Amino acid sequence: MNIAIVGTGYVGLVTGTCFAETGVNVTCVDVNAEKIENLQKGIIPIYEPGLEDMVQRNVNAGRLHFTTALENCLDNVDIVFSAVGTPPDEDGSADLSYVLAVAKTIGANMKKYTLVVTKSTVPVGTAHKVKDTIQAELDKRGVSIEFDVASNPEFLKEGNAIDDFMSPDRVVVGVESERAKKLMTKLYKPFMMLNSRVIFMDIPSAEMTKYAANSMLATRISFMNDIANLCELVGADVNMVRDGIGSDSRIGRKFLYPGCGYGGSCFPKDVKALIKTAEQNGYPMRVLKAVEEVNETQKSLLFEKLEKIFNGDLEGKTIALWGLAFKPGTDDMREAPALVLIEKLRKAGCVVRAYDPAAMGESKRRIGDTIFYACDMYDALLDADALMLVTEWKEFRLPAWGVVKKTMKQPVILDGRNIYDAKELQDLGFVYRCIGK
Ligand code: UDX
Repeated sequence: MNIAIVGTGYVGLVTGTCFAETGVNVTCVDVNAEKIENLQKGIIPIYEPGLEDMVQRNVNAGRLHFTTALENCLDNVDIVFSAVGTPPDEDGSADLSYVLAVAKTIGANMKKYTLVVTKSTVPVGTAHKVKDTIQAELDKRGVSIEFDVASNPEFLKEGNAIDDFMSPDRVVVGVESERAKKLMTKLYKPFMMLNSRVIFMDIPSAEMTKYAANSMLATRISFMNDIANLCELVGADVNMVRDGIGSDSRIGRKFLYPGCGYGGSCFPKDVKALIKTAEQNGYPMRVLKAVEEVNETQKSLLFEKLEKIFNGDLEGKTIALWGLAFKPGTDDMREAPALVLIEKLRKAGCVVRAYDPAAMGESKRRIGDTIFYACDMYDALLDADALMLVTEWKEFRLPAWGVVKKTMKQPVILDGRNIYDAKELQDLGFVYRCIGK
C-alpha cells in the first residue's frame, strides 16, 4: 500500500512514521524545504519520545520518504492524508486555507482514483468543502476522475504519541462510500489485530467526534478546577474527592486532576472552535464558555496565592519556576500556564529563574531573555523567595528537600500540580500551597 501524508507537523509526522512501521510505503510532504531536508537526514523538528528512532528505522528500511512536491507523488498513492495546520482565526474559528490549498493541489494533479482523508481537526462540513475544491479543479482541467473524501480525526497526546497511535482506544473514520471504507479497513488492519476498534460513521459525525472528545476532556478539567477551588473554601481535600468520585465507573479516574489550567495545541483551540461553530449555527454553547473562563482564571491562581503569601509585595522577589512546557514529555509551550505566570510575575517586578527539561529552547524563542534560564532544577532555586511547580515532569517529583531548602532564600513552595506531600513539606519547615486543599 502506498500513501502520502501532507503536513509534517506533530500529527502528520507521527501518523506517517507509525503507518510506515506497519509496512506501508509512506511519503511525507511539506512545503517547508528546510524541514524536509532535515527530515531526510533524520533530524526531527519536534520533541517526542521514541519518534526519532522510528523515523530513522523506517527511512533506512526504505518505507518512509520526505518531499516538498505533493504533485509528484500523487500517481503512486492510494490514499492522501491531509494533516496540515488549522490555526484559529482572529474570531476563534479554524482557518482552513492550508487544508483547501492541499485539496486544490490534489485536484489539479491527480490522475487516478484517490481517497483524500482529512486528519487535521476541522469543523463539521470541511470534508465536503475539500470534495468541492477537488471537483472544481477537475472541472477546470476538463477531466473526470473518481475520488472519495473521508475524515479520520487524530486523538494522540503529545509525549505519548507513538503509543497512542500504535495502540489506540479507538480509530474514528467517517466515510461515504464502500470503496473508501475498504481502503481504510485495509490500512488499519494491523491495528484491528491489536484489538483496537475502528468505528466507521458518516463524515460529519467523525468531524464532530474530535471536537466533542476534546471539549469533554477540557470540561472535566475545568470542572475539577472549580471543585478544587471550592474544596479550599469549605475545608475539603480535592485529592480525596477525586479518589471518591473517580472510583465510580460511570465517572472514571482519568482527567480529573486539578492544576494551574490546561494548555497545549488542542484543548484551547478546539473548545474555541466548537463555541464558534455553535454560534454560527445559532446555538449558544453555555457549558463550554464556562470551561474556557474557568481555565483562564485557573492559570493565574498560583500567582494569586503567591501575592497572598507576600501580602501583595512582590517587587524584587526572585521566583523559581520548575516547568515551562504545557505538560510533561513535550517541549510545547502553546497556551502554557507558565507563560501567563511569567507575564504576571514580571509585571509585579519579580526576577524569574526557570528550568524545564525540554522546553528551554522553545521558551527562549518565545519570550527571549526576559527570564533567567537555569542550568538545572537546583540552579533555578538560587536566592529564590518562592518555588512554583508548574509542569509535573518526573524529575521534579522527588527533589532533595535539604538541598532545596538550603539553596532558596525563603522556603516557600507553590505546587501547581499537587505532586508533593503537604505534611512532609510543612514538617520540613516549608510554607506549602497547592490546589484544592
Ligand atoms: C489532547 C488530547 O488528550 C488528545 O486526545 C488530542 O488529540 C489532543 O489534545 P494533549 O494536548 O497532547 O492531548 O495533552 P493532554 O495530555 O490531553 O493534556 C492537555 C492539558 O490538560 C495539559 O495542559 C494537562 O496538564 C491538562 N490536564 C490533563 C489537567 O490539567 N488535568 C488532567 O487531569 C489532565
